[in-house]
Amino acid sequence: MTKRKIKRRTFILGLGGFILASKIKNLYKPSQAANYANRDFAVVGNSPLRDRFATKGLLYGAAVSHRSLSSDLPFANRVAAECAILVPESELKWKALRPTPDRFSFAASDWLVNFARSQGLLMRGHTLVWHEALPKWFATKVDSRNAEQLLQQHIATVVGRYAGKIHSWDVVNEAVHPDDGRTDGLRQWPWLQFLGPDYIETAFRAAHEADPQAMLAYNDHHLEYDTKDQEARRTAVLKLLERLKSRGTPIHALGIQAHLRGDADRFNAKKLKTFMRDVASLGLKIMITEMDVTDQKLPKNIDTRDRIVAGSYEDYLNVALEEPAVIAVLTWGLSDRYTWLESQKPRKDRAPVRPLPLDAKLKRKLAWNAIARAADSALKQ
Ligand code: XIL
Repeated sequence: MTKRKIKRRTFILGLGGFILASKIKNLYKPSQAANYANRDFAVVGNSPLRDRFATKGLLYGAAVSHRSLSSDLPFANRVAAECAILVPESELKWKALRPTPDRFSFAASDWLVNFARSQGLLMRGHTLVWHEALPKWFATKVDSRNAEQLLQQHIATVVGRYAGKIHSWDVVNEAVHPDDGRTDGLRQWPWLQFLGPDYIETAFRAAHEADPQAMLAYNDHHLEYDTKDQEARRTAVLKLLERLKSRGTPIHALGIQAHLRGDADRFNAKKLKTFMRDVASLGLKIMITEMDVTDQKLPKNIDTRDRIVAGSYEDYLNVALEEPAVIAVLTWGLSDRYTWLESQKPRKDRAPVRPLPLDAKLKRKLAWNAIARAADSALKQ
């Protein structure tokens, strides 16, 4: 073989190895199924999640959409039975509220706020500042001259409209992104570009002014696993919260999204516990705001899959509910009938995904048991 051929062969072998290694890294490890195979997910009694959480001084709830709630009565009934608090999945995002730069469209969010009130449920607001779900016009119409006024006006109008009716607002969502390379770990995006890092504080102050009663939260994701990336995110989020608190910003809580992966093997109870303690020591409450467990890479067998999903819920919530600063747990949907993961994290085998407490027929699954068990074993607050 010529030198050149050998080089090429080594290169191809190396590339093959690299591809294989990254595939293996993403493969589900059977040890996780073994972990949960013998777990007893038994639950005492029949009472709904809202009651089990309420007994401990906690709130349980779910994200809902105008479309599902208004068109599916059996589903709406299950929501009202299991939940004490709701959050609109998309209806309060800029894309939904701002069809044009000078118009607001509140029909769907008004409907949801009224639904919650008519059922005696609390309502969260999600979200005033986020780099996703922006209307198309945002890219061309916002610049450094009008950014501040636009942000202030948006928050004053939206928060003002529902003042007194919202339990808590996710004022800013996912503003931390250490990959962007800034020393403060903040995401590089238009609001930061136009207003500097203080846009976060500005948003909180505007929200507080528009509804002094609402609890104001900073909400973020990827905060639980023991990886380099998530460690950097935890550090940056803590730094941001410390800074906001030290400047007297009206911020009251951290929202931890908790979109979990059933195939993850990097859950580290100790890291999560320490992080929550650190947040609590700043005088902040904590809400688990968007919990679900993707089964995208789990085995097809439904019992195996449901056990791993349930085990992931239980392991996580056992840690979270030990922290006295945690006041609420919301799942990102209630039933597998309506979940963003169907399109976001579909399975290769096309089997319907099963990430939520109720199945697509609205029946309680092991994930429901897991959440109920975590609440039942939590200490009273
Ligand atoms: C998701 C919704 O569930 C989807 O329907 C929509 O298409 C995209 O947004 N983190 C968040 C939520 O803070 O707003 C996202 O909601 C899910 C991830």
